[in-house]
Amino acid sequence: MSESAALQVIANLLYAKTGQEVTESRRWRVPAALHGIFKELRIDSLEELARILQGTHSADLPGRIVDALLNNETYFFRDRNYFELLMQQILPAIAERRSATRRLRIWSAGCSTGQEPLSLAMLLLAEPERWRRWSIEIVATDVSAKAIRAAKAGAYSQFEIQRGISITEMLTHFAKHKTQWRAQDALRRMVRFQQANLLNGLPGEEPFDLVLCRNVLMYFAPEARERALARLHGALAPDGWLMLGAGETVLEQPRLLRAAGCGAGLYQPLLANERTGLGRLAAPV
Ligand SMILES: C[S@@+](CC[C@H](N)C(=O)[O-])C[C@H]1O[C@@H](n2cnc3c(N)ncnc32)[C@H](O)[C@@H]1O
Repeated sequence: MSESAALQVIANLLYAKTGQEVTESRRWRVPAALHGIFKELRIDSLEELARILQGTHSADLPGRIVDALLNNETYFFRDRNYFELLMQQILPAIAERRSATRRLRIWSAGCSTGQEPLSLAMLLLAEPERWRRWSIEIVATDVSAKAIRAAKAGAYSQFEIQRGISITEMLTHFAKHKTQWRAQDALRRMVRFQQANLLNGLPGEEPFDLVLCRNVLMYFAPEARERALARLHGALAPDGWLMLGAGETVLEQPRLLRAAGCGAGLYQPLLANERTGLGRLAAPV
C-alpha cells in the first residue's frame, strides 16, 4: 500500500466518524498527530497503521486514531467579545422571552475539554438575581471520548486555567489541588457532559434557546457541514440562537438559518414564511 493510499484509509475513517476532511493543507499533520499510536504499536509509518487498521479486531483502535487526529484546541472565554454579546444582549433577551416558563436550555456542541460550557456557566453564575429560581440546563457534547473524559474531570493545568480567565473568575470558580485547578461543585453541577457525534442525532428532544458550535464546522467536509447545520437547526427553538466561531458561516444551509444581525457569529432559524422569500427579516434582538 502506498503512503497516499494509507493516508486515504485514515482520512476515510476520520470522515466516517466525524464528518471532518483531511484537506491538502492538513495532510502534514496526520503522521505527527499519530505519533503516540505509532510508538505504542511499535510502527513508524502510516502504511503499517492502515494495514493494522484494516486487519484489526481491536475495537478501540479506530476511536483512538480519530481522537488523536481531532483538534481539541480551546480555552476559557475564547473570543471574549462573543461572550460579551451573550452577556449583554442574548441572555437578557432569552430571560425576557422565557420569563413565563423560567427555563433556559443551552447546548455547547463540540465542547472539547469543557472550557466553553464552563465559561457559559460562569456568565450565568455572575448574575444570580436574573436567574434566581430558573431551571437551567447546559448540555455539552463532543465526539472525542478523551475530551469528554477530561471535561467531566473538570481539572485544569496551570497553563489551561490561565488561558482566557481572569484571576477573580479563577479564584471564584476553581480550587487548587496539587498541580491542578478543579472546577467548584456549583460550576460543575451546571453542565452535563456527554460524548456524542454532532452528525448522529441531538442530545434530547427539547429545543435549545442557545446553541454554541464554535470552531467545529470549519474542519468538516462541505456535505457534512450541511448535515451538521441541519441538525443544529433542528435543535433550536424557533426563536433560538446559534453561535458559530469566527469565520464560520451557514453558507451550506441558507434556507434554514440566517445571520441574526447583531454580529459575532450569531444565526437564527428562518421561519417557514421567510424560507419562501415572502417574509420580512425579523428584527435582531
Ligand atoms: C477546536 S475544538 C473547539 C472547542 C470549543 N467549541 C471552542 O471553540 O473553544 C473542536 C471540537 O469539535 C469536536 N468535534 C469534531 N467533530 C465533531 C463531531 N462530528 N461531533 C461532535 N464534536 C466534534 C472535536 O473533538 C473538538 O473537541
